[in-house]
Amino acid sequence: MTHQKATNITWHEGNLKRDERFAALKASGATLWFTGLPSSGKSTIASALEQVLVQRGLHAYRLDGDNIRFGLNKNLGFSAEDRKENIRRIGEVAKLFADSGTIALTSFISPYAADRNAARALHDQAGLPFLEVFVDTPIDECEKRDPKGLYKKARAGEIKGFTGVDDPYEPPQAPELRLASGSMNVEACVRACLELLTSRRVITAHR
Ligand code: ADX
Repeated sequence: MTHQKATNITWHEGNLKRDERFAALKASGATLWFTGLPSSGKSTIASALEQVLVQRGLHAYRLDGDNIRFGLNKNLGFSAEDRKENIRRIGEVAKLFADSGTIALTSFISPYAADRNAARALHDQAGLPFLEVFVDTPIDECEKRDPKGLYKKARAGEIKGFTGVDDPYEPPQAPELRLASGSMNVEACVRACLELLTSRRVITAHR
């Protein structure tokens, strides 16, 4: 747990209840948390899903590992401590998006189970759905794809502490969805995510 530093602060509830917000906006917020090795397909699937959801008129927004590290998390690297803080901040931001009635799609390696579970706990405490999607692509396939050439660099010793090469990845034990993206195409992965969102009543079959 991160230490609460500020004192003399008081939570302000606001006038609007979440139910009222969601009803007025005809929206239902949730977090779909994609996790997996580098080049497993997290960002590609999240991006395709975001497009489908928004085209249906739903509020969906993608928080992407590489992109967030250019802004909000530009002061973080890839040590265990920094990865933990990266995921802590994203857990908090995703929760805010979900609370606002948006479907937050996070695509971060999020290699440590404890950090993902902390993000889940935040959502549980707030009564917001947290759906963990394990993009389970075998490392050989990830390494074959290697669109940014990072596995190659890591194997050559040019990057130290690269997930899957010389840094750990702890697969989820009980994700809400597992996508065997080595053998499923992007369209099938998107369809499976839509089915999950429908079965959890975040979206309806029509919208
Ligand atoms: S996480 O481990 O903290 O969740 P995050 O998803 O934000 O990682 O960022 C991963 C992206 O950073 C990868 O897709 C890759 O492009 C890049 N990257 C650079 N260095 C590393 C590294 N040492 N390990 C993993 N990814 C790295």
